[in-house]
Amino acid sequence: MARRKKLYEGKAKVLYEGPEPGTLVQYFKDDATAFNAQKRDVIEGKGVLNNRLSEFFMTGLTAIGVPNHFIKRLNMREQLIRQVEIVPLEIIVRNFAAGSMAKRLGLEEGMALPRPIVEFSYKDDALGDPLVPEEYIIAFGWATQQDLDDIVALALRVNDFMSGVMHGVGIKLVDFKIEVGRVWDNDFMRLIVADEISPDSCRLWDMDTGQKLDKDVFRQDLGNLSDAYTEVARRLGVLPTNVTHATKPTLIN
Ligand code: TMP
Repeated sequence: MARRKKLYEGKAKVLYEGPEPGTLVQYFKDDATAFNAQKRDVIEGKGVLNNRLSEFFMTGLTAIGVPNHFIKRLNMREQLIRQVEIVPLEIIVRNFAAGSMAKRLGLEEGMALPRPIVEFSYKDDALGDPLVPEEYIIAFGWATQQDLDDIVALALRVNDFMSGVMHGVGIKLVDFKIEVGRVWDNDFMRLIVADEISPDSCRLWDMDTGQKLDKDVFRQDLGNLSDAYTEVARRLGVLPTNVTHATKPTLIN
């Protein structure tokens, strides 16, 4: 049988043609990059963890009615997704100051923001994904005002969901990035959450210790990235080998 067609290869994932029109297979690589790929490494097991974690978050979003591209997980590294036309924006939601926002405004890392703040970067590696105001997005036709209203609403729903899920396992959701894409049902266009939701694209801090459990571990050389993601997966109960504490034998009378 012919190998299926590769449609796109990014820094952390590969997209293949799906089994049916309108579907794709999303493959999660072990490659980690930071600072627009100036720093790179292969982190064994990262792809498997992100495949599982993205499945977990997207399935949860589906359960509360937030539309997204996830259809089903196929194997350890691959999932079947709906094909979308990606909007060329990185949509970032921040609850606490960190990263580029803390740097730009001289804010202390971890400072609670007055409310969740949504910002947009233009997706272009050659330019280093520059932050762009809504005015640019509309003027250049990357999205309409109506699209942006829908995108902000989606992003805030994802934020509420992700903050709650993380809170439940003792993790603070500092910020995260999502991407959205367009799908058409006949002539009717909808925006849905696409790409991935994983510790690659979030900042996750342990609530008690402040320990970082996201890609900053790699960006800032704070330890083993795979261990950090495994800890997130273990707390959420999504590891297949999650047999240590939760499933202790119990006496049956
Ligand atoms: P930033 O503070 O570096 O702008 O990052 C904000 C959030 O977006 C953080 O959770 C990490 C995530 N992010 C990505 O997913 N991809 C990227 O290329 C960058 C720069 C950040």
